[in-house]
Amino acid sequence: MRLKPVNARDLSLETLRLFTGRTPLLTAGDRNICNPMTIGWGGLGELWQKPVCTVYVRQSRYTFQFMESHDYFTVSVLPESCRDALHLCGSKSGRDLDKIAACGLTVRYGAGDAPFFDEAELVLVCRKLYAQDMKPECVIDQAAAEPFYKEGDWHRMYVGEVVEAYQA
Ligand SMILES: Cc1cc2nc3c(=O)[nH]c(=O)nc-3n(C[C@H](O)[C@H](O)[C@H](O)COP(=O)(O)O)c2cc1C
Repeated sequence: MRLKPVNARDLSLETLRLFTGRTPLLTAGDRNICNPMTIGWGGLGELWQKPVCTVYVRQSRYTFQFMESHDYFTVSVLPESCRDALHLCGSKSGRDLDKIAACGLTVRYGAGDAPFFDEAELVLVCRKLYAQDMKPECVIDQAAAEPFYKEGDWHRMYVGEVVEAYQA
């Protein structure tokens, strides 16, 4: 086991670049079944006096059903050497293949039996606090949003409390 627990509030400033410098794997599910997908959008911050991580998942994703059916999700930041895994998890659906087996990733479990990957440099284990659909009528800057929703399939936003963090 490479990863060691750290306090979410002690994460470095570098970690705040999680979603701009890196494309992590978002994983939801449990010990029986789970699915990872690559994500590029999200954020870290503070809500209701808790450290939180926000992610955005289109309802067409296979991962979406696991986000809905489970109370926890994880965000695993893989090293550069796992580029192929990130590519596969961002281009193939878990409906069609077992992405974890295909990538040869090692699954570990955190709070709520939430699955994450031991190959990661950083892992956040999150407990869902809030979820809300993004909607066309709520967009303020149409030009910013429009290119991403030409075919609908709007994201659902999930805010999770970071209940555990692990670093290599
Ligand atoms: C770099 C990158 C970033 C992505 N970011 C997101 C994201 O933030 N939200 C999302 O819903 N899909 C995102 N995707 C698309 C999913 O990763 C992709 O559709 C994946 O195949 C879904 O897998 P699933 O059907 O097994 O859930 C991204 C893909 C890539 C390559």
